Amino acid sequence: MRITVCLTDNRPDPWVSGLRAALPGADIENWEPGSPPADHAVVWMPPQAFIDDQLALRGLFNIGAGVDALLGLKLPPQTRIVRLDDAGMSVQMAEYVCHALIRHFREFDAYEVEARAGRWTFRKPRSRGDFPVGIMGLGVLGERVAKAVAQFDFPVNGWSRTPKAIDGVRNFVGAESFDDFLAASRVLVCLLPVTPETRGVLRCENLLKLNGGKPGGYVINVARGAHLVEDDLIPLLDAGQLAGATLDVFEQEPLPGDHPYWRHPKINVTPHGSARTLRDESIAQIAGKIRALESGVGFDALPGVVDAGRGY
Ligand code: NAP
Ligand code: GLV
Repeated sequence: MRITVCLTDNRPDPWVSGLRAALPGADIENWEPGSPPADHAVVWMPPQAFIDDQLALRGLFNIGAGVDALLGLKLPPQTRIVRLDDAGMSVQMAEYVCHALIRHFREFDAYEVEARAGRWTFRKPRSRGDFPVGIMGLGVLGERVAKAVAQFDFPVNGWSRTPKAIDGVRNFVGAESFDDFLAASRVLVCLLPVTPETRGVLRCENLLKLNGGKPGGYVINVARGAHLVEDDLIPLLDAGQLAGATLDVFEQEPLPGDHPYWRHPKINVTPHGSARTLRDESIAQIAGKIRALESGVGFDALPGVVDAGRGY
């Protein structure tokens, strides 16, 4: 069995050596133009030129959860895309979202300003019942985040395409329930995949529906920059309709140094690191799936196999 590795923006050597240790019988190399075709590939944002060399490819294993960068590629007909299924990401995402939510709810940024000035001042306690959290996407990451947020006694709403039963989470299903979901939520967390249906979902028209249309909504985007219509955000913040935003993902990454988000007082920016790929966990997961396939298990029995028609 031959496995090729093609990782844009990542050092391939530790992946190649880790995969060799996990799959001792396999022939595993970093891809170079003209390399022989492989049975499986381990990739991050590979160019079409890489795919064009892979006529026999069966499994295209992404070292991330989001597969938007792969769905635009022209793949051989038999190739299936397999994404990371958690592999240590969901706990990181739960930490990140709870941190952003609590930082906002408890007004820790304002406390920090006071502390820097040496002032011992309190802010009036706020009721968490007034801060219902809406989580868009209740998949591998969204479900873990929803459960973590519910542990802090916030009311939690979750929006998904198909029904879910998650303790402590009120589920809104499908496009027809979207407006009700937005109206019932004050803090909005985006954990959707990018698909034709979800691109631009964080746009003015929808953000105005948060919190029953009243001012005070807060946005946490940890999914993809393409979900947010970037030009819509700052006017809503400056008008006081939205109270703030924590953004981890952007239309252009790295976020350009002169982008207004960096310096806006109501926006917190992080560099697409809310849930990092953990190499050891990811190699173990991918190697386990390749072993299963080689032992005769079909793709449809594996977690994380992407439905190209659905887009995630
Ligand atoms: P997932 O397991 O595929 O979950 C996706 C969820 O979105 C599912 O609950 C799905 O509903 C829902 N959904 C999809 N289309 C929808 C629509 N049109 N309307 C309503 N709900 C819809 O994905 P995941 O592993 O949780 O990851 C989610 C995304 O997070 C990834 O695609 C990636 O872009 C992003 N991500 C970001 C980072 C980071 O560091 N910032 C790290 C990892 C992942 P159903 O369950 O009903 O199908
Ligand atoms: C990171 O953004 C991922 O999709 O894993």
